Amino acid sequence: MKLTIDTTREGKELGDLFGIFFEDINHAADGGLYAELVQNRSFEFSPADHEEYNSLTAWEKIGSDENVTLSIETKDPVSSKNPHYLAICVQEAGCGAGVRNLGFNCGIALKAGAGYFFSCYARSTELTGMKISLREKNGETLAEDMISLTSQWKKHELVLTPSETTDSACLELTVCKAGCAELDFVSLFPKDTFKGRKNGMRKELAEKLEALHPKFMRFPGGCLVHDGDLDPDSRTAQYRWKNSIGPLEERPARRNNWNYNQTLGLGYYEYFLLCEDIGAKPLPVLPGGFDPHHQRAAEGRQLEAFAQDALDLIEFANGSADSRWGSLRAELGHPQPFNLEYIGIGNEEVGEEFFERYAFIHRIVKEQYPDIKLIGTSGPFAAGEWYERGWQSAREENADFVDEHYYQSPEWFLTNHERYEKVPADGPKVFLGEYASHGNRWKNALAEASYMIALQNAPAVALACYAPLFANVDYVNWEPDMIWYDNSHVYVTPNYYVQKLFMNHQGDVLLEQTFQDLEKQMIIREQSDCLSGRIALEANDSVVSFSEIRVIDEDHDVCMKFPDQTADRKKRLAELEPVISSENYIIRLCAKELEGRKGFRIQFARHDDENKLFWSLGGWANSDSILGQDIDGSNSCLIQKTREIEAGRSYQLEIRIRGRKVEMYVDGILEQEHEVKPLAYRPVYASSSFDRASSDIIIKLVNLSSRNQTVQLELKGGKNTGWSGCAYIMDGYAPEDGNDFESEKVKPREETVIAESSSFSYELTHQSVHILRLHREM
Ligand code: AHR
Repeated sequence: MKLTIDTTREGKELGDLFGIFFEDINHAADGGLYAELVQNRSFEFSPADHEEYNSLTAWEKIGSDENVTLSIETKDPVSSKNPHYLAICVQEAGCGAGVRNLGFNCGIALKAGAGYFFSCYARSTELTGMKISLREKNGETLAEDMISLTSQWKKHELVLTPSETTDSACLELTVCKAGCAELDFVSLFPKDTFKGRKNGMRKELAEKLEALHPKFMRFPGGCLVHDGDLDPDSRTAQYRWKNSIGPLEERPARRNNWNYNQTLGLGYYEYFLLCEDIGAKPLPVLPGGFDPHHQRAAEGRQLEAFAQDALDLIEFANGSADSRWGSLRAELGHPQPFNLEYIGIGNEEVGEEFFERYAFIHRIVKEQYPDIKLIGTSGPFAAGEWYERGWQSAREENADFVDEHYYQSPEWFLTNHERYEKVPADGPKVFLGEYASHGNRWKNALAEASYMIALQNAPAVALACYAPLFANVDYVNWEPDMIWYDNSHVYVTPNYYVQKLFMNHQGDVLLEQTFQDLEKQMIIREQSDCLSGRIALEANDSVVSFSEIRVIDEDHDVCMKFPDQTADRKKRLAELEPVISSENYIIRLCAKELEGRKGFRIQFARHDDENKLFWSLGGWANSDSILGQDIDGSNSCLIQKTREIEAGRSYQLEIRIRGRKVEMYVDGILEQEHEVKPLAYRPVYASSSFDRASSDIIIKLVNLSSRNQTVQLELKGGKNTGWSGCAYIMDGYAPEDGNDFESEKVKPREETVIAESSSFSYELTHQSVHILRLHREM
């Protein structure tokens, strides 16, 4: 196989192609990147955040119930934005009664000899002093100091230096005399944060981001952005950026969509600083006046406020230090602008209510700031009704980008290489704002690497970022994730290393390349790849009766009738016999949901529980008709359309399978059709780029096959000189290999490359990623 690269012919500008996406999911901010060590520092946790939370979550009384009472008060708080505070009353004099905070995970992680900033607000008319200690769970004191109490709220600040390293300490606040005191905003921060910033980021986590060299950072979510009340002052509000800036006490702790509480301590100002610190362009996502989860839509003045938020954010980021919002930025410590270029309007909202609101906000922003690049959305599905509608909206409004999201099987990524090849580059560009194959194994990372080659090569793809970024192992909402940690350790996944290689070696511009003698397609698993197989009828957490079941085998001209079936929560699945061996057949039946509200599924081409196609009607939000595919238990949504299932109504359903084509009918009307791709892909994918600063040629190669492949590399253009440099290689792992706290088995290695001339052969090990970074020998 020969790969010819013309080193003098440039193609697509790669711009800000590969970046990252941060969302406070899996305790990525509080209990993660945001370095605060105290959990529930302002006593604002509430059952609205999580069914098991209350104002004393993560706090424990020290002392007997008779001696110590803890109560939550709201009269005359430090800030009305965070109205709860702790009142502690001790009956009997004697040291050691009080309260302790347990931190996140197994406790507070401390390093011997390092400094920790303690702060709190306190007041007392009866007590004069309070002891502040860091202690091991066994009671051993690691550091302590005193604060003097005053009758009015006062902020106290100390530096504590623990004598030992531990990952399971707690912070104690105790008194020696009888009396009452009130406490709020109890905080403990390592001095040693990323870049030494106050209210900063956990160093070893932020360093993992910096090492990626991302071109941009999308933040703060995700569903986190759009799920919530439209009123910014509501306890369960959507993420409104103005709530997240200024003094910490004035930032209202809020319900986080991921079933916990967000302090907003990591807010927009900190996000902008972090972007600057890691060299990434900021890419904030604002809610677009619509909550798709609860179908709340802003009208009139309320909608105008969403547009105003966008205008004010631009002024906050870019305005001069004497503008209204720019002056706030200067006051916070950053007179220089943050050079905001991109804004997302909406996360993955779809529905006419959203598209109308997108248009409204888009026009207002573009009128005042035509150079700001605006990003529309095509929803949470890779194809289908809403996906198309999202693109239509973006084209109508001249959005600069369309934000696509999908989480699919590794095989889906391998077989969808051509997805963007034909998307015109002169309309809105593709921003792949969330994607991942289901898993953190080598096979996932390898599939993503080959897909990233396609993203790099496709003319219309401009921005892409993997999701989600972080997961605290003790608070997992979503998997897979790129970076995993507890309170004192961190490890990164094979997916992280692939992302890192692609970001570290992106290049500025594509170089023209041609492949010769490349095997066209490799068919994988031919046997399980045909659309014949078993049929099964399934209830989606509901009770469903299936009747008038017929399968018409068109290849053998046979019509099979089956007895009526019922599927319910106990017996979810009714399998039909015999197995269909035909390539052309029709499944016909009536389905009626008797109980529940999630509808039903018809499985077909079922080889086993983990490998099948299915048509799901209803689903988790009872809003979709989806053709899905499971491969080795890993799910992909192939196409989607809106459909709500009415309980008690009988639906006439028909699936026609003709070779690889699937047509789905409801009550005689074609609902959707789709050509299921064969499980086939090329053995080797490549992309070549040029890095202007270093004058390096970067060749990215992914070998998906289980054989080593020799590539003859021909670097055309310029003098016929030798080339030398480095190869960054990921190879030699089993598909299921992954990393963990004990070992990072899957990580790149480096090899020197020296080529005597512009034509040389290079050995691509099997199932590997190779990135060659070469410069011309003079
Ligand atoms: O990345 C996890 C979630 O997936 C995001 O919050 C949401 O946008 C998507 O559905």
